[in-house]
Amino acid sequence: MNRKELSEFIKREKGSDTLILAHTYQPPEIIDSADITGDSFALSLKAQTVKEQNVIMCGVRFMAETVKILSPEKHVYLANPDAGCPMAEQMSREMIQRVKDEYPGYTVVAYVNTTASLKAISDVCVTSSSAVKICAAIENKNILFIPDCNLGAYVASRLPDKNIKLLDGGCPVHSAITVEEAENAKRAHPDALLLVHPECRPEVSAMADYVGSTSGIMDFAKRSESREFIVGTENSIAETLMYECPGKKFHYLSKRFICPDMKLVTLPDVLSVLKGEGEELILDPDIMRAARRPIDEMIRNG
Ligand code: 13P
Ligand code: SF4
Repeated sequence: MNRKELSEFIKREKGSDTLILAHTYQPPEIIDSADITGDSFALSLKAQTVKEQNVIMCGVRFMAETVKILSPEKHVYLANPDAGCPMAEQMSREMIQRVKDEYPGYTVVAYVNTTASLKAISDVCVTSSSAVKICAAIENKNILFIPDCNLGAYVASRLPDKNIKLLDGGCPVHSAITVEEAENAKRAHPDALLLVHPECRPEVSAMADYVGSTSGIMDFAKRSESREFIVGTENSIAETLMYECPGKKFHYLSKRFICPDMKLVTLPDVLSVLKGEGEELILDPDIMRAARRPIDEMIRNG
């Protein structure tokens, strides 16, 4: 079976009680096989409402955890159990607890790219598309933002009245992109608008014409009257836009812009979950209960 046939086979065989969710960074054949695709926030929202009892997450572990936390009674499978987000797993609960003890009275805001165990000791979660709005609505001026210092710095730049304490964490893929690479891309494509994900370094985001989440970037490019764009996030977004907007031109900010974990997911992984060979995601019930509060808070305010 070739990829297209396998993708069609998966859609036919999966039955009415299984839902396949895919993050927009997933490879094209996975996107084609999914019922729902979207950014982290869209997937979190969907996770709350799905009626299917089995959910296969094509993405990284924290995304599958979010589905499980919001629907504890469902059977949730991470299509490839090795797909983790290095940023989400960067800081231990003990370390964050120590920082919280150092900064009593701060509201702890956790990027959704964190483990369930970190969410469990946070006050509210945010995604890249909801971070500014949610932080703006927090009454407390003092915020401890974990773990991404780049997204946190972007929020701080938009909310100068807040006192936002940042830690030294971030996405190894986005934060590896340099100002020099952005300058080179702009020089090579002088008519293109630069669109950047806020996980990039502040110096790179400062050069952008638009800063936003993966779906924010896609919506901006589709709605914009401009014809040419440099896409400053994982290269699958530029590729999807190339197919979806054939009349416009899209360039990679860097050929290095690839998340290796997102690319671990394959169609045979999805197929083996459908065949009953997947590893069901199991979380500690106390952690799940505690982690649900900040996620619900995010959905209420996002
Ligand atoms: P989004 O919130 O834009 O989906 O981003 C998730 C992510 O992992 C970005 O690296
Ligand atoms: Fe995690 Fe970065 Fe990959 Fe997003 S791109 S899943 S933040 S490692």
